[in-house]
Amino acid sequence: MTEITATPAVRLLGLSKSYRKGREVVDAVSDVTLEVGERGMVAIVGPSGSGKSTLLHVIGGMDKPTRGDVIVAGQTVNRLSQADLTRFRRQTVGFVFQTFNLIPNLTALENVALPMEFNDVPKAARLARAKALLERFQLGPRLNHRPRELSGGEMQRVAIARAVANEPRLVLADEPTGNLDSHSGQIVYELLREISRERTVIVVTHAEDLAGLADRIIHIRDGRLTDTLLTPRLQRLSEKPGRV
Ligand SMILES: Nc1ncnc2c1ncn2[C@@H]1O[C@H](COP(=O)(O)OP(=O)(O)OP(=O)(O)O)[C@@H](O)[C@H]1O
Ligand SMILES: [Mg+2]
Repeated sequence: MTEITATPAVRLLGLSKSYRKGREVVDAVSDVTLEVGERGMVAIVGPSGSGKSTLLHVIGGMDKPTRGDVIVAGQTVNRLSQADLTRFRRQTVGFVFQTFNLIPNLTALENVALPMEFNDVPKAARLARAKALLERFQLGPRLNHRPRELSGGEMQRVAIARAVANEPRLVLADEPTGNLDSHSGQIVYELLREISRERTVIVVTHAEDLAGLADRIIHIRDGRLTDTLLTPRLQRLSEKPGRV
């Protein structure tokens, strides 16, 4: 097997996440080792409760692993200081949620511009970029609509524009088509594919047919990957997380 030599966008080494529920411990993610390359779309598929959302949250720095390391774009996410973690979440990753999570009293344009404001982009530049992104996503006629004046598919396209506003290296999408009909879901997937030409997209889904549009499918069950082939180098690294 050829060993991967290029720096991967995401490297997970012996990653585990457990939750304590009273006296019970739930192993949501168990000993996951994985490399995901620069650019392209990876689908994570698994039954409800298999640890998909937990895995995304840990990769995106929204949750800390119990064991192991998460390395994204060369940064060991679980070891970042609070200030660096905030910067990482603003600049390196973008999130897309099943429920869109747009701000209801802001227009589509303002929703997409907002993350750039947190990133200190001047107002004229952020409005221009937000407009260009929405036009690219066929939402030119909807710039000044508020979320309640948009369809589900349109809201999710606004959310994808927002997720890429700061040009992140990685986009994480958790069941992005879960609340959409199949036609809108298809459009959202095509958009995710399109943005994956410039960055890595990891998408969690129940929908096997949509997962088929990804460049790679990873199955997870009971917190464990069921079908990942480890290169010898990755196998060695996973045995000693913390030394990369
Ligand atoms: N904050 C939490 N506290 C305790 N247990 C949790 C917490 N979050 C998740 N879990 C548990 O961890 C396991 C994995 O949950 P997770 O949400 O990652 O699954 P999932 O694959 O995303 O499921 P779904 O497809 O239903 O969204 C489940 O058993 C869940 O009950
Ligand atoms: Mg989930």
